Amino acid sequence: MSLSIGQVLRGRAASYHITKVLKAPTVFQAKIVPFEQSQIPKPAQLAVIKHFPADISSSQYRRELHNYSFESLAKSPYIRSMLDLVGHEDSPPADGTQQPKCMVFEWMDTDLWQLPSQPFRSGSQLPRIMAKSLLEALAVIADENGVHTDVNPNNVFLSGVDSPSPVVKLGDLGNLMGAGPMIKIRFQGVVIRAPEVWLDVPITPKADICWHIGLPDVLIFGFSDKVIEECTESWCIGKIIRLVGPIGNPDPAKTEIIDELALAEFLEKETFVRPGTDLEEKFIKVGTIRQELEKVDGPIEKECVDFIESLLVIDPGRRPSAREALAHPWLKMKSEEDADSDWSVD
Ligand SMILES: Nc1ncnc2c1ncn2[C@@H]1O[C@H](COP(=O)(O)OP(=O)(O)O)[C@@H](O)[C@H]1O
Ligand SMILES: [Mg+2]
Repeated sequence: MSLSIGQVLRGRAASYHITKVLKAPTVFQAKIVPFEQSQIPKPAQLAVIKHFPADISSSQYRRELHNYSFESLAKSPYIRSMLDLVGHEDSPPADGTQQPKCMVFEWMDTDLWQLPSQPFRSGSQLPRIMAKSLLEALAVIADENGVHTDVNPNNVFLSGVDSPSPVVKLGDLGNLMGAGPMIKIRFQGVVIRAPEVWLDVPITPKADICWHIGLPDVLIFGFSDKVIEECTESWCIGKIIRLVGPIGNPDPAKTEIIDELALAEFLEKETFVRPGTDLEEKFIKVGTIRQELEKVDGPIEKECVDFIESLLVIDPGRRPSAREALAHPWLKMKSEEDADSDWSVD
């Protein structure tokens, strides 16, 4: 059974009063009801509760819980903190008051998906802080030889975006796994899938660097502008080819991938005549990544475009690691906001 609004859960550090459904049937907002002498800091009045009801596969839940057993991840200021556990006692209470198994996370104001990007495209420090924070989180994950595989705007959490010191954290470690070959399913959603995942070669932590860090308009890579039904995979690969360049050659034994790639190359090159207008159109309308980013209304700082371009390298061997990317000059620049508030007395 899922949790319900009004339910009170008793954790190890506090109790939690469920106040809102964030993502049915697994993610909830709760109010923290401290025990006396609670360990939870006073200002943290809200929390996020994650619970997987019995009819939903619990593998993501178990994986996320396991990933917080790495001290480096659990303690990173750039990864959403786990505050508490509910119902995870080694021996359940004899009186039948067993609580549902839940993880309790710190509350953040919003996720990136819900934050309008327009106000932050020009002159704001937020894109830089976001890129830095996500790279710091990925550097910690890379140190454990892990790959998050789901760095997308729903899993990037922000607080205090209009304050002088916004906080950005990466969350949702339910798809974080060890680097290596893919077994059965392809990693990453199609919109954020790295070229090496399309080619089905074993992945490294660099697969997380690719396509999302610092990107103001995330759907440039997606399939939302697809003009034909079906073939989503080839559509996405075709867009990468147009935006960045050829994605390399698959293993000749992997015939399905060879077919996917052949169709992607066709879509990237070819045009069609639209019925009704008789006008010739390209299947894939985007230009190069630089052309697309230069078109974004804002405008985006030139150095930010350079930064994004520096990450979008097809060959993971030549793509910067999270730590290498942290050294990019754009991340060291001051924004207009910083410069305005900067003053010194000699
Ligand atoms: N700490 C948080 N602060 C605010 N909203 C959150 C927080 N954690 C999760 N949410 C909301 O719940 C959604 C799902 O949470 P997430 O942990 O990504 O679960 P799932 O594994 O189901 O994707 C997020 O996209 C966000 O909208
Ligand atoms: Mg999520």
